[in-house]
Amino acid sequence: MNKTNGKVYFVGGGPGDPELLTLKAKRIIEESDVVIYADSLVPEEVVSYANDKAEVYGSKTMALPQIMEITLKAVSEGKTVARVQSGDPSIYGAILEQMRILESEDIDYEIIPGVSSAFAAAAVLKAELTVPEISQSIIMTRAEGRVSLPPGEELKSLASHGCSLVIFLSVTRMTKIVRELRSAGYSKDTPIAVAYRVGWPEELVIRGTLTDISAKVRDAKITLQAVIIVGQAVNPDVRLPDSDRPEQRASSHLYSETYTHLYRKASRRSRSSAKDKDKAVSGVDSVKA
Ligand SMILES: C[S@@+](CC[C@H](N)C(=O)[O-])C[C@H]1O[C@@H](n2cnc3c(N)ncnc32)[C@H](O)[C@@H]1O
Repeated sequence: MNKTNGKVYFVGGGPGDPELLTLKAKRIIEESDVVIYADSLVPEEVVSYANDKAEVYGSKTMALPQIMEITLKAVSEGKTVARVQSGDPSIYGAILEQMRILESEDIDYEIIPGVSSAFAAAAVLKAELTVPEISQSIIMTRAEGRVSLPPGEELKSLASHGCSLVIFLSVTRMTKIVRELRSAGYSKDTPIAVAYRVGWPEELVIRGTLTDISAKVRDAKITLQAVIIVGQAVNPDVRLPDSDRPEQRASSHLYSETYTHLYRKASRRSRSSAKDKDKAVSGVDSVKA
């Protein structure tokens, strides 16, 4: 199909820490003839693996036509292009319009997944985003701003589910976010965390509640590159053992000795005690781990 031997890779560059690149992403950066990286969100260290002969471009000052001009020229010369995006390319990566052009030109391309800032933030917060009995779903979204949201995706309506929320691209709208979450029914002491530049040397994590988070973010002067996570998932107390509070008691079936699944039978002793105890335990329906 491809008219030349050139190929484009959309590479997930991860949140910023070069050690969070996948081995495949690193290899493709090393082997590519042209590397175009989103230098507003991807630090230079991530593309430092490019070979000495590679042309390396930062794309933060470029519009789509310029990016595609460089890309199409390289491909027409049979070169390989690594388009390095922040986090995972499938989340707000703006790759769709690039893929459409490549499709129309019959150019071969591939997507290499990366560690999203959502998951890097959950990691620094030491959070499991799926808290048994509290939230078994995660909604990834953004607040409405210059980009309008499709009907039904307003934060207020998504928040009505009460599950873990990961909000991108919205740290300048904390007051509006808090207002919408409150009107969707989140209590004023709902835990919320803001993780700025996760994986960068200047990484900063702010924890709070819907009552105080706006002021904390304002005081820290964070206006960009932060991911917001809302819900009991970011309540540090869920990690504390031996509490009567429900969010600290529930745990997953996954490794429960009272739970039979495809690869393991519940122990007999635990099966009998489970009848009484396990009512408080929730978890997964099928297990592949
Ligand atoms: C254009 S989106 C790209 C998201 C990216 N594809 C991902 O999976 O993380 C940019 C937004 O992602 C979040 N983001 C990206 N990198 C980040 C990082 N290192 N730390 C915190 N948030 C980050 C911020 O919300 C930022 O406004």
